[in-house]
Amino acid sequence: MRQKRIKYVTPALLKEKGVVLNVEPLALPKDRPIYLEIGAGKGQFITALAKAHPDDFFIALEVNPYVLYRIVEKKEAMELHNLLIVLGDAKVLDQYINDQKIAGLYLNFSDPWPKSKHHKRRLTFPLFLSLYQKILLSDAFIQLRTDHLNFFLDSLEYLEPMCHFEQITYDLDISPYMTEYEIKKRALGPIYQMKGRIKTNDS
Ligand SMILES: C[S@@+](CC[C@H](N)C(=O)[O-])C[C@H]1O[C@@H](n2cnc3c(N)ncnc32)[C@H](O)[C@@H]1O
Repeated sequence: MRQKRIKYVTPALLKEKGVVLNVEPLALPKDRPIYLEIGAGKGQFITALAKAHPDDFFIALEVNPYVLYRIVEKKEAMELHNLLIVLGDAKVLDQYINDQKIAGLYLNFSDPWPKSKHHKRRLTFPLFLSLYQKILLSDAFIQLRTDHLNFFLDSLEYLEPMCHFEQITYDLDISPYMTEYEIKKRALGPIYQMKGRIKTNDS
């Protein structure tokens, strides 16, 4: 996601704002379901969800600090106490999540990496899927939303051996929970979505 460097966004500021910077097990509530968005961008989707579901807990994982800062701003403006913002890479997801497993995973408009030589960077590539199997509860859902048809179809193929597909949509309706990308991309064509349950290491 495009976002210019913001000079005043420093590790010290992010830490002061409660953003997790270290790769270590997250302090998570034990009494509520926890939902995770990977590559949360500027945070419109996850902050709207957190606002609408104050009894649940949400994690926004984003690797770009300047994009992530837009989530911090929204969290403060919306006074969200049920959203944890993590600056980090999905590659090490299993180092953040220990015993408190995740009830649902959102992948919204993940980078499609169209060239074959880059496919292994896709957040739906089998290497990432095996990480998700480690951190998800046995009945957890995964929701994938994108405007990129080839990425969507390839992702369904990667997921097929380990996922029970519950809903596959090739022209998703608008909803109250849309990301910044979705709002932009809707003007250009259809939005694709898959919702399903991943077979985890516990199931
Ligand atoms: C195309 S943008 C979409 C952002 C947002 N989900 C949306 O729909 O508006 C993809 C985002 O994923 C983040 N990202 C890419 N790879 C990541 C990774 N391995 N771990 C965490 N975030 C990642 C990027 O920094 C970028 O903000």
